[in-house]
Amino acid sequence: MPKLSVWMVRAALVHLGIGFLFGALILHHKGVPIYAWTWQLLSPHTEFVIFGWTMQFVMGIAFWILPRFSGERRYGRAGLGWWSFALVNGGVLLTALGDWFINGPLVLAGRVAVLAAVVLFVIVIWPRVKPLGGYAASLTNQKQISEFKEHNHESA
Ligand code: HEM
Repeated sequence: MPKLSVWMVRAALVHLGIGFLFGALILHHKGVPIYAWTWQLLSPHTEFVIFGWTMQFVMGIAFWILPRFSGERRYGRAGLGWWSFALVNGGVLLTALGDWFINGPLVLAGRVAVLAAVVLFVIVIWPRVKPLGGYAASLTNQKQISEFKEHNHESA
């Protein structure tokens, strides 16, 4: 597993912990209404569980598991991936803080950061969305790919 995936999955698990905790506090308040402020955790809850946990987990696993290139830079433009990692985590945090303090510009900044993270991640991962990985990823035309498949008894 590449380092970026390790960091993304671990960060996603931290977001899961925070997001579920917020959800549990709201749920508790719904059953036993003693902390009215817990409703203020609703937007941060969705931010943490949707973008911080679910989306980031998928990003981390996708960066690891999609077909790699052969030779150097097997995972593609990992540098951009690290920017994406920083932006998604910073963005979720900013949005959650903006929600809590009811600060529109902060929420907007957070959302722009998360959007930028997604765009960068798509740039990183797009060239790796292809049917074959490993050695086959270095093959550049259909004829070579067909020969490779034939040789390896692969279908379609
Ligand atoms: C991946 C997991 C989860 C996702 C994607 C998710 C997503 C959401 C979303 C989109 C809302 C609606 C927010 C809104 O109305 O603005 C919500 C509300 C809520 N969530 Fe979650 N959630 C998750 C896990 C949890 C967990 C584990 C708990 C509790 C331990 C929880 C407790 C709540 C509660 C209490 C509400 C408010 C329900 C209401 O409006 O009455 N959520 N969640």
